Amino acid sequence: MTHPNFPHLFSPFDLAGVQLKNRLVMAPMSTGLAGENGTVQPSHVAFYRERALGGFALIVVEFTCVEAATGRSEKHQLALESRANLDGHKRLVDAIKGAGAKVFVQLQHGGRFADKRFVALPKGPSAVYSRKDATKLVSGEYTSDDINRLVDRFGTTARLAAEAGYDGIEVHGAHGYLVAQFISPLCNRRDDEWGGDAERRMAFPIAVSKAVRAEIGQRPLVFRLSVDEFLPGGITIDDTEVNAKMLVAAGTSAFHASTGQGPASFERVMEPMSAPEGWRIPYAGRLRRAVQVPVIAVGQIRDPAMAEDALASGEADLIAMGRPTLADAQWANKVRDGRIDDIRPCTSCNWCISGATESVSCAENPRTGNELEAPVDADIGEGKHAIVIGAGPGGMASALMLAELGFKTDLYEARDSLGGGLIASAAPPGKDKFYWYLDYLLRRLERSKVKVHLNAPLDAVALAAINPDLVFVAAGTRQRPMDLEGIDGANVLDSYEVLMGQQDHGLTAGQSVIVYGGGETGCETAEYFAKLGISVTLVSRSSEADLARAAEFVYRKMLIERLAKNDQITIVPNTHIVRIDEQGAELMSQETQLIRHVAVDRIVVAQGRDPDYALVEDVLAAGVPCYTIGDSRKTGRIGNAVHDAYKAIRSIAAERVVPRELAC
Ligand SMILES: Cc1cc2nc3c(=O)[nH]c(=O)nc-3n(C[C@H](O)[C@H](O)[C@H](O)COP(=O)(O)O)c2cc1C
Ligand code: SF4
Repeated sequence: MTHPNFPHLFSPFDLAGVQLKNRLVMAPMSTGLAGENGTVQPSHVAFYRERALGGFALIVVEFTCVEAATGRSEKHQLALESRANLDGHKRLVDAIKGAGAKVFVQLQHGGRFADKRFVALPKGPSAVYSRKDATKLVSGEYTSDDINRLVDRFGTTARLAAEAGYDGIEVHGAHGYLVAQFISPLCNRRDDEWGGDAERRMAFPIAVSKAVRAEIGQRPLVFRLSVDEFLPGGITIDDTEVNAKMLVAAGTSAFHASTGQGPASFERVMEPMSAPEGWRIPYAGRLRRAVQVPVIAVGQIRDPAMAEDALASGEADLIAMGRPTLADAQWANKVRDGRIDDIRPCTSCNWCISGATESVSCAENPRTGNELEAPVDADIGEGKHAIVIGAGPGGMASALMLAELGFKTDLYEARDSLGGGLIASAAPPGKDKFYWYLDYLLRRLERSKVKVHLNAPLDAVALAAINPDLVFVAAGTRQRPMDLEGIDGANVLDSYEVLMGQQDHGLTAGQSVIVYGGGETGCETAEYFAKLGISVTLVSRSSEADLARAAEFVYRKMLIERLAKNDQITIVPNTHIVRIDEQGAELMSQETQLIRHVAVDRIVVAQGRDPDYALVEDVLAAGVPCYTIGDSRKTGRIGNAVHDAYKAIRSIAAERVVPRELAC
């Protein structure tokens, strides 16, 4: 039956002989869950099965190394080099198929970007020497014999994958790994049968395509390409239109149109939230028109209507989703069932690639990567009263989970609106996708049994009068006190309060500010004012190279580039303010010790914030069980707060665990 709203998205598709129930593909994502020697773990089975149950027609299992000794790209990477790992892959395949999806596996080799912790001297098509020391070899060059061996490795791994029951193979020819290194003129400087001109640079991917095809019979072979590297001298979509035809002739059945090269243009591989939704779709469209085989579009596709349009307009045959499946495993089912408002929206905050956790995770969805954990008993809170203080992301997530577990839940917020730090996070230019998450939490709260109290600060005395069974303190931070002449002046603002919309800066275009603080918040506040046409002097005690140093790395790269290009912003590094007066501030250079006065309309302080432990101490002193969440415990990101909430709930549940003797 045709879907009433998404007729293309939920129509079946024949992918080179594999019948897909809809057009939604889970993109390959390394989970960091693999065991010693790249084995499949029970956590893999649970993680992928949950996404298969979530309605995706095709799951592409994460990058799996074809020769770990030379190509391993991270500590916990999957491998399928020998029969030793076959049983695990078989179990994974069976679980995914049993949950109603088809399954491919992505074959990869890191080449020159193999992880140096495991590969002493990684190699690629051409040797690379240090930029600082031209005699120092950074990565070596493969010989022709090595290359022939690696081609074989792709073939033998594909054969084992077919034996494990995978429905098809995806070759990782994107993102700057080995196959992409051969294709790109930036990495392949050989002059032999494996490089020298565009055609010879395709010799390795073509050989890989043929080797895989020879081993997998009629199964589909998808080639994932970075269709454009977005680097001067790198692969462009014009090149890809030509290259892709050669791969089709060598047995490739379909393409997965990614972009970017890691690390040089990583912001095109996993773009931060400032990237426009669906910006890559036209690239998939160009590739599709150039080749007569199916093309999968991927990257920053979040809106189901946009996915539907991409299919309807012939830009793509299939739509792959990466991060949205981490944020919400049920994405596909929810769209199919008309529950789009229930989708936990991926904001592209990139917490999941920031190394915040050891294995796969999502800031908004602490279950991701923890699928093996048994659900908490739904009656755990029956007859009990929980109070949550603070309605930022950690507080809202806590209240929702507590209410779901049967606690009578009251959420107290001192301000006049819900959202806390999420509002401040969403305010700077390019970060408005955080509102998606805020709106989602508000919708969930509205439908929950949580009782919300606004303009309701709660102190120890009030708490004692209520006498709850437990308290979650998620009250956030307070501004770090500063010993600085003039800091209490009427012209001094707190960047956090400005971004929260709680302090009216009263400025209009043409006026000026000093933003004091070169951390992420300071840099973002500078952009915020610059966008209003206000001229900004960004004063940082650190060097320019250290601006926003704690920010997520992809976002940071783009933020720094934008700051440098912004005419409205003057960066003054290695400098501190020694005095504030009504006309502006005195700045002292740490290098020269020279002091100069800069006249501005406002000074906006962004010198960091600290947890406020006072309330926690009061609650503990009153003898009420207390859980400290997010910034109230340690200043961090939205993911830290939400994950704290989840851990607190799990620790409540842990008190009810009944020990059970093992049979062995
Ligand atoms: C945690 C994580 C791991 C990833 N690992 C892989 C991988 O193993 N192979 C690959 O080709 N792409 C990998 N990617 C890229 C995704 O497949 C996808 O192309 C990218 O996230 C953009 O799509 P999205 O906006 O839907 O997330 C990874 C992305 C994430 C977030
Ligand atoms: S951590 Fe952020 S970017 Fe990653 S999946 Fe979750 S919401 Fe998306």
